[in-house]
Amino acid sequence: MTMKPLVIGNWKMNLDYVESVHLSQQLAVLLKNRPAEHTEVVIAPPFVDLRSVTSVIESEKMPVTVAAQHVNPNDNGAHTGEISVSMLKRLGVQWVLVGHSERRSMYGQSDEFVAQTLRAVVRGGLNAVLCCGEAREVREAGDQNEFVSAQLRAALEGLEAKYHDSVVIAYEPIWAIGTGLVASVEQVKDMMAHARAVLVELGLSGARVLYGGSVNAENAKTLFVDGDVGGFLVGGASLKAESFMAIVQDADDCYAEKR
Ligand code: PGA
Repeated sequence: MTMKPLVIGNWKMNLDYVESVHLSQQLAVLLKNRPAEHTEVVIAPPFVDLRSVTSVIESEKMPVTVAAQHVNPNDNGAHTGEISVSMLKRLGVQWVLVGHSERRSMYGQSDEFVAQTLRAVVRGGLNAVLCCGEAREVREAGDQNEFVSAQLRAALEGLEAKYHDSVVIAYEPIWAIGTGLVASVEQVKDMMAHARAVLVELGLSGARVLYGGSVNAENAKTLFVDGDVGGFLVGGASLKAESFMAIVQDADDCYAEKR
Protein backbone atom coordinates (compact mmCIF):
# COMPACT_ATOMS: atom_id res chain seq x y z
CA MET A 1 0.00 0.00 0.00
CA THR A 2 1.68 3.18 -1.08
CA MET A 3 -0.95 5.80 -1.68
CA LYS A 4 -2.15 7.77 1.27
CA PRO A 5 -5.85 7.52 2.02
CA LEU A 6 -8.22 10.24 0.91
CA VAL A 7 -11.47 10.87 2.77
CA ILE A 8 -13.97 13.32 1.29
CA GLY A 9 -17.09 14.57 3.05
CA ASN A 10 -19.90 15.39 0.60
CA TRP A 11 -22.35 17.63 2.44
CA LYS A 12 -24.75 17.66 -0.53
CA MET A 13 -27.56 20.23 -0.15
CA ASN A 14 -27.26 20.38 3.63
CA LEU A 15 -26.03 23.08 6.04
CA ASP A 16 -26.41 26.81 5.42
CA TYR A 17 -23.34 29.01 5.78
CA VAL A 18 -23.82 29.51 9.53
CA GLU A 19 -24.12 25.76 10.07
CA SER A 20 -21.14 25.14 7.79
CA VAL A 21 -18.95 27.42 9.93
CA HIS A 22 -20.08 25.56 13.02
CA LEU A 23 -19.26 22.13 11.58
CA SER A 24 -15.90 23.36 10.23
CA GLN A 25 -14.98 24.68 13.66
CA GLN A 26 -15.91 21.37 15.26
CA LEU A 27 -13.73 19.55 12.73
CA ALA A 28 -10.88 21.94 13.52
CA VAL A 29 -11.07 21.07 17.23
CA LEU A 30 -11.15 17.33 16.59
CA LEU A 31 -8.25 17.53 14.14
CA LYS A 32 -6.20 19.52 16.62
CA ASN A 33 -6.85 16.98 19.36
CA ARG A 34 -6.01 14.08 17.12
CA PRO A 35 -4.38 14.97 13.81
CA ALA A 36 -4.71 12.58 10.88
CA GLU A 37 -1.09 11.81 10.17
CA HIS A 38 -1.42 10.14 6.80
CA THR A 39 -4.90 10.81 5.55
CA GLU A 40 -5.84 13.62 3.22
CA VAL A 41 -9.12 15.20 4.31
CA VAL A 42 -11.41 17.08 1.93
CA ILE A 43 -14.85 18.59 2.53
CA ALA A 44 -17.39 19.43 -0.16
CA PRO A 45 -19.86 22.05 1.10
CA PRO A 46 -22.61 23.71 -0.97
CA PHE A 47 -21.41 26.61 -3.16
CA VAL A 48 -22.79 29.31 -0.86
CA ASP A 49 -20.78 27.93 2.09
CA LEU A 50 -17.42 27.75 0.30
CA ARG A 51 -16.09 31.15 1.31
CA SER A 52 -17.06 30.71 4.96
CA VAL A 53 -15.56 27.24 5.12
CA THR A 54 -12.26 28.29 3.53
CA SER A 55 -12.07 31.20 6.01
CA VAL A 56 -12.35 28.80 8.95
CA ILE A 57 -9.77 26.48 7.37
CA GLU A 58 -7.36 29.39 6.97
CA SER A 59 -7.87 30.91 10.39
CA GLU A 60 -7.70 27.55 12.19
CA LYS A 61 -4.85 26.34 9.96
CA MET A 62 -6.75 23.13 9.33
CA PRO A 63 -5.04 20.41 7.24
CA VAL A 64 -8.15 20.18 5.09
CA THR A 65 -8.86 21.14 1.48
CA VAL A 66 -12.16 21.96 -0.12
CA ALA A 67 -14.14 20.48 -3.00
CA ALA A 68 -17.08 21.86 -4.94
CA GLN A 69 -19.92 19.45 -5.63
CA HIS A 70 -20.38 20.52 -9.24
CA VAL A 71 -19.07 23.00 -11.80
CA ASN A 72 -20.11 24.22 -15.22
CA PRO A 73 -17.57 23.27 -17.93
CA ASN A 74 -17.82 26.63 -19.71
CA ASP A 75 -15.39 29.44 -18.92
CA ASN A 76 -18.02 32.15 -18.36
CA GLY A 77 -21.05 33.75 -19.99
CA ALA A 78 -24.77 33.16 -20.28
CA HIS A 79 -25.24 30.17 -17.94
CA THR A 80 -27.72 31.44 -15.39
CA GLY A 81 -27.33 29.75 -12.03
CA GLU A 82 -24.00 28.11 -12.83
CA ILE A 83 -20.48 28.46 -11.41
CA SER A 84 -17.17 28.26 -13.32
CA VAL A 85 -13.82 26.63 -12.53
CA SER A 86 -12.08 30.01 -12.24
CA MET A 87 -14.66 31.18 -9.69
CA LEU A 88 -13.92 28.12 -7.58
CA LYS A 89 -10.17 28.59 -7.89
CA ARG A 90 -10.45 32.15 -6.68
CA LEU A 91 -12.10 30.79 -3.52
CA GLY A 92 -9.24 28.39 -2.86
CA VAL A 93 -11.20 25.29 -3.92
CA GLN A 94 -8.88 22.47 -5.03
CA TRP A 95 -11.27 19.67 -5.96
CA VAL A 96 -14.53 19.18 -7.83
CA LEU A 97 -16.89 16.19 -7.66
CA VAL A 98 -17.67 15.27 -11.25
CA GLY A 99 -20.59 13.11 -12.37
CA HIS A 100 -22.07 12.31 -8.98
CA SER A 101 -24.98 9.90 -9.56
CA GLU A 102 -27.45 12.43 -8.14
CA ARG A 103 -26.40 14.93 -10.79
CA ARG A 104 -26.39 12.31 -13.52
CA SER A 105 -29.89 11.08 -12.68
CA MET A 106 -31.67 14.21 -11.42
CA TYR A 107 -29.98 16.90 -13.51
CA GLY A 108 -29.54 15.02 -16.76
CA GLN A 109 -25.76 14.83 -16.87
CA SER A 110 -24.75 12.60 -19.79
CA ASP A 111 -21.44 10.73 -20.02
CA GLU A 112 -20.44 13.33 -22.58
CA PHE A 113 -21.15 16.22 -20.23
CA VAL A 114 -19.25 14.45 -17.45
CA ALA A 115 -16.23 14.03 -19.76
CA GLN A 116 -16.40 17.69 -20.75
CA THR A 117 -16.66 18.80 -17.12
CA LEU A 118 -13.75 16.61 -16.05
CA ARG A 119 -11.57 18.18 -18.74
CA ALA A 120 -12.58 21.70 -17.72
CA VAL A 121 -11.69 20.88 -14.10
CA VAL A 122 -8.24 19.41 -14.68
CA ARG A 123 -7.27 21.85 -17.44
CA GLY A 124 -8.26 24.62 -15.06
CA GLY A 125 -5.75 23.28 -12.53
CA LEU A 126 -8.15 21.57 -10.10
CA ASN A 127 -8.48 17.92 -9.13
CA ALA A 128 -11.47 15.92 -10.29
CA VAL A 129 -13.24 13.25 -8.25
CA LEU A 130 -14.92 11.23 -10.97
CA CYS A 131 -17.93 9.41 -9.55
CA CYS A 132 -19.18 6.18 -11.08
CA GLY A 133 -21.44 3.34 -10.00
CA GLU A 134 -24.33 1.19 -11.10
CA ALA A 135 -28.05 1.17 -10.27
CA ARG A 136 -29.66 -1.76 -8.48
CA GLU A 137 -31.05 -3.33 -11.69
CA VAL A 138 -27.60 -3.33 -13.25
CA ARG A 139 -26.12 -5.04 -10.18
CA GLU A 140 -28.96 -7.58 -10.10
CA ALA A 141 -28.29 -8.41 -13.74
CA GLY A 142 -24.59 -8.87 -12.91
CA ASP A 143 -23.57 -6.12 -15.34
CA GLN A 144 -21.84 -3.79 -12.87
CA ASN A 145 -18.33 -4.28 -14.25
CA GLU A 146 -19.33 -3.45 -17.82
CA PHE A 147 -21.34 -0.48 -16.60
CA VAL A 148 -18.52 1.01 -14.55
CA SER A 149 -15.95 0.36 -17.31
CA ALA A 150 -18.15 2.23 -19.77
CA GLN A 151 -18.49 5.19 -17.39
CA LEU A 152 -14.74 5.32 -16.78
CA ARG A 153 -13.88 5.03 -20.45
CA ALA A 154 -16.41 7.66 -21.47
CA ALA A 155 -14.92 10.15 -19.01
CA LEU A 156 -11.21 9.33 -19.25
CA GLU A 157 -10.41 7.97 -22.71
CA GLY A 158 -8.07 10.36 -24.49
CA LEU A 159 -7.38 12.50 -21.44
CA GLU A 160 -3.92 14.05 -21.80
CA ALA A 161 -1.36 12.22 -19.66
CA LYS A 162 -0.29 15.40 -17.90
CA TYR A 163 -3.68 15.49 -16.18
CA HIS A 164 -3.73 11.88 -15.01
CA ASP A 165 -2.46 12.79 -11.55
CA SER A 166 -5.37 15.20 -11.11
CA VAL A 167 -7.99 12.44 -11.21
CA VAL A 168 -9.44 10.37 -8.36
CA ILE A 169 -12.23 7.83 -8.88
CA ALA A 170 -15.11 7.32 -6.47
CA TYR A 171 -17.04 4.09 -6.95
CA GLU A 172 -20.50 4.66 -5.51
CA PRO A 173 -23.13 2.02 -6.27
CA ILE A 174 -26.39 3.97 -6.50
CA TRP A 175 -28.26 1.39 -4.43
CA ALA A 176 -25.87 2.03 -1.54
CA ILE A 177 -26.06 5.84 -1.52
CA GLY A 178 -28.03 7.20 1.40
CA THR A 179 -29.81 3.88 1.88
CA GLY A 180 -27.84 2.32 4.73
CA LEU A 181 -27.28 -0.63 2.37
CA VAL A 182 -23.52 -0.59 2.23
CA ALA A 183 -21.95 -2.81 -0.43
CA SER A 184 -20.37 -5.97 0.94
CA VAL A 185 -16.63 -6.15 1.39
CA GLU A 186 -16.43 -8.68 -1.47
CA GLN A 187 -18.45 -6.45 -3.80
CA VAL A 188 -16.23 -3.49 -2.96
CA LYS A 189 -13.02 -5.46 -3.30
CA ASP A 190 -14.05 -6.91 -6.66
CA MET A 191 -15.00 -3.50 -8.01
CA MET A 192 -11.79 -1.91 -6.75
CA ALA A 193 -9.79 -4.53 -8.65
CA HIS A 194 -11.94 -4.12 -11.74
CA ALA A 195 -11.78 -0.31 -11.72
CA ARG A 196 -8.01 -0.40 -11.22
CA ALA A 197 -7.61 -2.78 -14.16
CA VAL A 198 -9.63 -0.43 -16.38
CA LEU A 199 -7.58 2.53 -15.15
CA VAL A 200 -4.36 0.72 -16.03
CA GLU A 201 -5.69 0.22 -19.57
CA LEU A 202 -6.51 3.91 -19.73
CA GLY A 203 -3.03 4.85 -18.53
CA LEU A 204 -4.19 6.06 -15.11
CA SER A 205 -2.61 3.35 -13.01
CA GLY A 206 -1.74 5.85 -10.29
CA ALA A 207 -5.31 7.08 -9.68
CA ARG A 208 -6.77 6.51 -6.24
CA VAL A 209 -10.07 4.65 -6.13
CA LEU A 210 -12.45 5.52 -3.31
CA TYR A 211 -15.64 3.83 -2.17
CA GLY A 212 -18.84 5.72 -1.35
CA GLY A 213 -22.32 4.62 -0.30
CA SER A 214 -23.50 4.49 3.32
CA VAL A 215 -19.99 4.60 4.75
CA ASN A 216 -20.10 5.24 8.50
CA ALA A 217 -17.95 4.98 11.59
CA GLU A 218 -19.04 1.34 12.08
CA ASN A 219 -18.16 -0.04 8.64
CA ALA A 220 -15.23 2.14 7.55
CA LYS A 221 -12.46 0.02 9.09
CA THR A 222 -13.57 -3.26 7.49
CA LEU A 223 -14.15 -1.59 4.12
CA PHE A 224 -10.74 0.02 4.25
CA VAL A 225 -8.81 -3.09 5.20
CA ASP A 226 -10.71 -5.89 3.46
CA GLY A 227 -12.35 -3.88 0.70
CA ASP A 228 -8.96 -2.59 -0.41
CA VAL A 229 -10.20 0.97 -0.96
CA GLY A 230 -8.04 4.06 -1.36
CA GLY A 231 -10.38 6.07 0.84
CA PHE A 232 -14.00 7.15 1.04
CA LEU A 233 -16.56 9.58 -0.31
CA VAL A 234 -18.88 10.06 2.65
CA GLY A 235 -22.33 11.67 2.50
CA GLY A 236 -24.63 11.44 5.52
CA ALA A 237 -21.92 10.55 8.04
CA SER A 238 -19.90 13.65 7.05
CA LEU A 239 -22.57 15.97 8.46
CA LYS A 240 -21.53 15.25 12.04
CA ALA A 241 -17.98 16.11 13.06
CA GLU A 242 -17.56 13.06 15.31
CA SER A 243 -18.70 10.47 12.78
CA PHE A 244 -16.70 12.04 9.94
CA MET A 245 -13.55 12.22 12.01
CA ALA A 246 -14.04 8.64 13.23
CA ILE A 247 -13.97 7.53 9.58
CA VAL A 248 -10.86 9.64 8.93
CA GLN A 249 -9.14 8.14 11.97
CA ASP A 250 -10.05 4.59 10.94
CA ALA A 251 -8.52 5.13 7.50
CA ASP A 252 -5.49 6.72 9.11
CA ASP A 253 -4.95 3.90 11.64
CA CYS A 254 -5.47 1.16 9.05
CA TYR A 255 -3.02 2.81 6.67
CA ALA A 256 -0.41 3.13 9.43
CA GLU A 257 -0.83 -0.55 10.39
CA LYS A 258 -0.72 -1.85 6.81
CA ARG A 259 2.19 0.28 5.67
P1 PGA B 1 -23.96 8.47 1.67
O1 PGA B 1 -23.63 9.33 0.36
O2 PGA B 1 -22.68 8.30 2.43
O3 PGA B 1 -24.97 9.30 2.42
O4 PGA B 1 -24.51 7.17 1.21
C1 PGA B 1 -22.44 9.14 -0.38
C2 PGA B 1 -22.41 10.06 -1.59
O5 PGA B 1 -23.42 10.19 -2.28
O6 PGA B 1 -21.37 10.68 -1.90
